Amino acid sequence: MLQDMLTVKITPTSHSLLESVDWNNLPFGKIFSDHMLVMEYADGAWQQPEILPFGNISIHPATSAIHYGQSIFEGMKANKTEAGDVLIFRPDMNAKRFIESSERMCMPIIPEEMFIELVRKLVEVDKDWIPNREGFSLYIRPFLFATDEFIGIKPSETYKFMIFTCPVGAYYSEPVNVKIEEFYTRASVGGVGRAKTAGNYGASLYPAKQGQMKGFHQLVWTDGKEHKYIEESGTMNIVFVINGTLVTPSEESDTILRGVTKRSVVEIAKSWGIPVEERKVTVEEIVTAAKNGSLQEAFGAGTAATIASIAKIGYRDEILELPPVETHTISIKIRTYLDDLKAGKVEDAFGWCLKV
Ligand code: COI
Repeated sequence: MLQDMLTVKITPTSHSLLESVDWNNLPFGKIFSDHMLVMEYADGAWQQPEILPFGNISIHPATSAIHYGQSIFEGMKANKTEAGDVLIFRPDMNAKRFIESSERMCMPIIPEEMFIELVRKLVEVDKDWIPNREGFSLYIRPFLFATDEFIGIKPSETYKFMIFTCPVGAYYSEPVNVKIEEFYTRASVGGVGRAKTAGNYGASLYPAKQGQMKGFHQLVWTDGKEHKYIEESGTMNIVFVINGTLVTPSEESDTILRGVTKRSVVEIAKSWGIPVEERKVTVEEIVTAAKNGSLQEAFGAGTAATIASIAKIGYRDEILELPPVETHTISIKIRTYLDDLKAGKVEDAFGWCLKV
């Protein structure tokens, strides 16, 4: 099967937009590279993948993903080393999560090896789109959606898998202010919180907008039952540093997305001998720690967000100010190390980077 997938049909663009890119102005997710990968699922099997010039796709009004939300996606990044090699960061982790999301959403699986190979092929074709600037990357967006033209509720029998890429800078250009959400719920036990499915993001928009109107960049989601435990933030997982210990909600619960960046942070911290606690984290302990000064740092961890320092946490009518972000030494050190690792500036001690 993989043998067939290795022969991706490539139709190169006849008018590259590369020359028109303003590399000093790369708004996140608005500039698209020249090509995209498309692979259909039909008759119970994946069909021949193709790399085509990036462009619009045409879909039937009854396309089932639009109506019933069978739609999942991933996000990962590629960087170029000083020597010009291209590195993709931990695509195996995204491939595994894509499989988990597919299973939960009743969609066909793309085997890990095949997923990685398709990502690799597209990045190879558009490698000139990888920004050469520090802090910038090529964001890779694989996604899968149901394409049956049918108004009835059942798993689709046909699907479209696609990948496109975007040269990007930081998702957040400044430290973020987050608000602990105690009314709205992102995910509940037995739901789809662990899946990277489109509806989770659609459902978060209204609550996030309420928070944004109060000056917060994002919410910190709490558990759907008691709103007592911290889960994750809107676009990233969340990590705290309390008295020198890295504390983060454990991913045991099926309500939390298993973040690749968060996992990397935990593995790096452990390898450096920093104490790490992955466990249930109560809102109360974070509020207490912020008030008594033992909360030294808080940050978001995500592919798009990378390591996003948190400056303020809103809790009910209070604003909990964290120490100035320049003093967040653990997260700064982890961010620098991760950036260097992705750009091939330090030895890949964990074997996380795939060379294209
Ligand atoms: C990512 O970090 O890749 C995500 O999917 C989050 C999205 C807000 C861009």
